[in-house]
Amino acid sequence: MYNQNRVNEDELSTYEALANQEWQNRLAVRSSNNVYNQSLVASLIEHLGKSETQEWCRGLVENFARPPRGGDMAQIKAAASGMADVAIANYYYLTRFAPGRQAENPEVFNPIEVFFPNQQGRGTHVNISGGGVIKTAPNRDAAIQFLEYLASPSAQAIFAQSNSEYPVVPNVPLDPIVARLGDFKEDSLNVAVLGGNNPEAVRIMNRAGWQ
Ligand SMILES: [Fe+2]
Repeated sequence: MYNQNRVNEDELSTYEALANQEWQNRLAVRSSNNVYNQSLVASLIEHLGKSETQEWCRGLVENFARPPRGGDMAQIKAAASGMADVAIANYYYLTRFAPGRQAENPEVFNPIEVFFPNQQGRGTHVNISGGGVIKTAPNRDAAIQFLEYLASPSAQAIFAQSNSEYPVVPNVPLDPIVARLGDFKEDSLNVAVLGGNNPEAVRIMNRAGWQ
């Protein structure tokens, strides 16, 4: 997400480019102990390899506007206030500042625009809300029924409307604010890969000094 008073959309392109020097002191992102960014780094390991991802991570940390603190909403606020110019965050946290929403705040909502990185290439990294059944689950059938319910159009509509997430079931209506963002190309990497790369992602972030 970017502050449209301080950044032109054409300055933005990829996650990789955010490690370039032009972004020095301009990025807000939350701490490396959060799984959202661990997954982003895990995806880069898969696409770029470990050593290039380590280099990227060092450059990115150099560009932080402040030591990471707060959740996704705090990063968006930092970009809106001019503390930073770009916030790496999940888009749905922006909807919370919209008129009539739980954290309504035009000073945050109005200057911020959403940019989906890597549209010319592999697509934007996507985090998911997922569920599964562990091997030792005592109520396996009921657990599977519950997951099937969560994947039904009616439960997906609840995700889409209450947390402004993109539904996994096609044709479930989007939150109207999300619908305005338009279509974008998603990175198609299997989330199991992100899990497998997670420990290495955490090591890379630590070595880069990402607090
Ligand atoms: Fe979240």
